[in-house]
Amino acid sequence: MQVFEQENELKEFLKKARQEGQSIGFVPTMGALHEGHLSLVRAAKSENDLVVCSIFVNPIQFTNAEDLEKYPNLLTEDKQKLKQEACDVLFCPTKEQVYKEKPIINFHFEGLDQVMEGRMRPGHFSGVAVVVSKLFNIVQPNKAYFGQKDLQQFAIIARLIKDLSFDITLRMQPIVREEDGLAMSSRNMRLSDTEREIAPKIYEALVLAEKYWNQGASLNEIKTQVALYLQKYRIIKLEYFEIVHADYLTDVEENLRHKPIAFCIAAQVGNIRLLDNIII
Ligand code: PAJ
Repeated sequence: MQVFEQENELKEFLKKARQEGQSIGFVPTMGALHEGHLSLVRAAKSENDLVVCSIFVNPIQFTNAEDLEKYPNLLTEDKQKLKQEACDVLFCPTKEQVYKEKPIINFHFEGLDQVMEGRMRPGHFSGVAVVVSKLFNIVQPNKAYFGQKDLQQFAIIARLIKDLSFDITLRMQPIVREEDGLAMSSRNMRLSDTEREIAPKIYEALVLAEKYWNQGASLNEIKTQVALYLQKYRIIKLEYFEIVHADYLTDVEENLRHKPIAFCIAAQVGNIRLLDNIII
């Protein structure tokens, strides 16, 4: 695996690959890689000649200083994992290289960034859009791979690609879960033993919601049942449970059950904020 820290060296390398007719698949990450990230690398491997993974903890997308401070740095382990997946290229630039100057550009995504995570973390998606645009311009991939785990991020990147005419095919990969259903996340390693035991209840609540949905329950009834289910566990604090159109994140109306529909949840388990969703 070729490792690049310098943008110019990576660009030079990729220019040659492109001239040789190689297709490029791109997997942007913030490191602390787990099976979820690796599933994106595998998907990229199966559809492209060359796979580029980036690891960059993007400071401008963090709205909580402690989250940024505590973000795990596991570069040595990450490199090993990527090598095992036969990833071709790793790009791991420094903060100073990516942000020679603090960007002054801001992105707004109308309805898309006003709901769910956008409401909880103002400015977060603008920070994501800035770094993803930069990375797209540097790597110029044919295809880019993102996880369903961050469904709202996916919807926003889809619009970013459309509105800015990036010539990139976007691919979504399903959520990779632990055996007990907990969605894999780099934040899971910060859960205490008790919190880790209770955390899969978030996924169980989504499964319960789907069951009620299939039985034709009203949206209010489903929301009430989810809240009641999670209330039983004192260390879980439900932040939101939303039933939205999976692509546009708009509210689903009672009489308009058009698919794909996503059930999205955010909850605090102790001090750790976890996200999960299912698409039906
Ligand atoms: P990060 O949280 O490292 O996630 C990188 C990619 O892995 C994202 O597309 C995310 O949706 C996907 N992912 C995370 N957990 C997953 C799981 N359990 N199953 C499947 N895919 C999973 O998302 C970011 O980084 C950043 O916002 C980034 C796009 C890199 C911009 O800084």
